[in-house]
Amino acid sequence: MSKPRILIARAVFPAVIERLSQYFDIESNQADETWSKAQLTEKLRDKAGAFTTGSDRIDADVLAACPQLKICANMAVGYNNFDLDAMTARGVLGTNTPDVLTETTADFGFALLMATARRITESEHYLRAGQWTKWSYDMFAGSDIHGATLGILGMGRIGQGIARRGAHGFGMNVIYHNRSRLDAATEAECKARYVDKDELLKTADHLVLVLPYSAASHHAIGAAELAQMKPTATLVNIARGGIVDDAALAAALRDKRIAAAGLDVFEGEPKVHPDLLTVPNVVLTPHIASASVPTRLAMANLAADNLIEFFTKNKALTPLNPQVLTRA
Ligand code: GLV
Repeated sequence: MSKPRILIARAVFPAVIERLSQYFDIESNQADETWSKAQLTEKLRDKAGAFTTGSDRIDADVLAACPQLKICANMAVGYNNFDLDAMTARGVLGTNTPDVLTETTADFGFALLMATARRITESEHYLRAGQWTKWSYDMFAGSDIHGATLGILGMGRIGQGIARRGAHGFGMNVIYHNRSRLDAATEAECKARYVDKDELLKTADHLVLVLPYSAASHHAIGAAELAQMKPTATLVNIARGGIVDDAALAAALRDKRIAAAGLDVFEGEPKVHPDLLTVPNVVLTPHIASASVPTRLAMANLAADNLIEFFTKNKALTPLNPQVLTRA
């Protein structure tokens, strides 16, 4: 019997391609070319499955042009690159990679918070530029992490990981806001107190965003929300671009309406709002929160396992719209 044809839309670990090649007839993109929507559609036209990343948009147009497509396995926990309703309507399964990246991403959120509050990259740039000629008492004085109030917006698995690090490791007072409140046992384990969004914005010394992107969370942090924050506060976004209004944030940073920000994700990335590049009090990283070698490998293998399970057993390990599996 011939193997199902799949597309691996971006470059990935050769060992994962090797595994997949036992089950599939593969077209891959190891040159990691950037495909337009029309090119991606053309490549998917004769494929039954796709291995995608957050930069590959699967929407109603793509699906309409690719009637053979049955599954898109995303190598990411976020899946706002999928139009999941359109996929479900066409009977196309979507899968993502939760859990395997939780702790690595929480580590990174904490690293970005510390780099931001303690002005680590800003001071390194100063040193590398040869500007360090003498020590002074207030040189790159930032704000404390230990004992401070840590606010978390979006309290899923990664938010909880950040809360545990803050509360147990750094003695922080943790507050959070989420669509739904956590159960009492999880709150106790995270030492986190539920507050409304206004209190979160007004009270946090450090605010970390870990909520999924959707129309409802678009610009959840804009000029009005930034104005509610303390002038000494830091803001960290490891969630998705578009949750923060980047132009409003750049203005708030320039005018010192908040002290600093750490951003791993951007509206319209890989483009970065030009104003963010001109303010010194922001730490900028290129969407790498889950980027440890073991975690990226685990994510790629989970996406591969989803494809294999689907085509061999009509199952998936981490389905987003499992209802399509049970349809006749
Ligand atoms: C990364 O942003 C992910 O969603 O896994």
